[in-house]
Amino acid sequence: MSDNPPAPYAGPKRVFSGMQPTSGLHLGNYLGALVKFVDLQKDFDDCIYCIVDQHAITAELQPNLAENTRDVAAAYLAAGVDPRKSLIFVQSAVPAHTELAWIFNCVARMGWLQRMTQFKDKAGKHAERSSVGLFTYPTLMAADILVYKATHVPVGEDQKQHLELSRDIAQKFNNDFDAEGFFPLPEPLIQGPGARIMSLRDGSKKMSKSDPSDQSRINLSDDADAIANKIKRATTDPHPLPETVEGLAGRPEVENLVGIFAAVTGVSTAEALRDWGGKGFGAFKPALADALIARLAPIAGEIRRLRADPVQIDAILREGGEKAQAIAAPIMADVRRIVGFWR
Ligand code: TYM
Repeated sequence: MSDNPPAPYAGPKRVFSGMQPTSGLHLGNYLGALVKFVDLQKDFDDCIYCIVDQHAITAELQPNLAENTRDVAAAYLAAGVDPRKSLIFVQSAVPAHTELAWIFNCVARMGWLQRMTQFKDKAGKHAERSSVGLFTYPTLMAADILVYKATHVPVGEDQKQHLELSRDIAQKFNNDFDAEGFFPLPEPLIQGPGARIMSLRDGSKKMSKSDPSDQSRINLSDDADAIANKIKRATTDPHPLPETVEGLAGRPEVENLVGIFAAVTGVSTAEALRDWGGKGFGAFKPALADALIARLAPIAGEIRRLRADPVQIDAILREGGEKAQAIAAPIMADVRRIVGFWR
């Protein structure tokens, strides 16, 4: 045995990320992930953005899956993902994802998956009634990334543990099959002011599509009145805004609103508090609503325009799928050879 450290991955840099088409996107998806998808196009030549429809059926079956898939595609495009620079495609159109996921199901350990907090949250008290797909969700996610040998993955903070698992799976595959450096250990890109956007009603819960209260989230499709109303009714406390970041401690709802303001206006939380510290929510909330409307209204308008032309969306998705398939095919051929499947 040699004492040399294992050879690291030496291939090109590539961005991969995805979103579930469980329904339209919300402000958390936008600030936590989509804004980064758009920005990364400047720094990376190779960005792949997927709509993960196979993940979308793990918790419950989706009656409008194809429509929701087009909605997410429209949101990607409207926010500024440029199909001339980046691939936009649908997970189920590239069977290599599930093929690699099967192999990863045989690499990952039960104990690793049992530790996933997202599974525990979603399964609740009755894990035995959850789908097997919900349990193995993270191995499919690892396959999504690694079937393209992606090196960088922009996501919100809630995906950190899944990304760590993807790294563990990549490392174990490389070790088990004596294929050091074959898969990269993908790096999560999480940092940023929008990494963790919380519910407007309860600052201890993340903003989520599955929250039964629509008042808890800003949807990318909300019109100006809906946004203004939701911000007006957002939970706060009777005290004025603090003047420093430390003053946000123990005030999660306030911290969330200030964080959203900072993220949409492009300032730091400290700068936002320098302007707003000492003022009341009667003044701050309308300013926040205006900032959100200024940022989101053009995107909502563009989503509506694009949704009126499903043929154009489908053409972009089809072309993206063909290109994604072409990238994944030689990687999967290597995987089959490394695993030792009959050819
Ligand atoms: P999904 O559809 O649940 O979320 C899509 C993205 O939005 C981020 N996000 C948030 N960010 C900040 N605050 C919030 N309240 C908030 N809610 C959601 C998520 O972190 C995510 O980045 N498992 C992934 C989908 C996926 C994937 C992948 C991602 C499947 N395969 C491969 C990256 C790479 C998910 O959570 O989707």
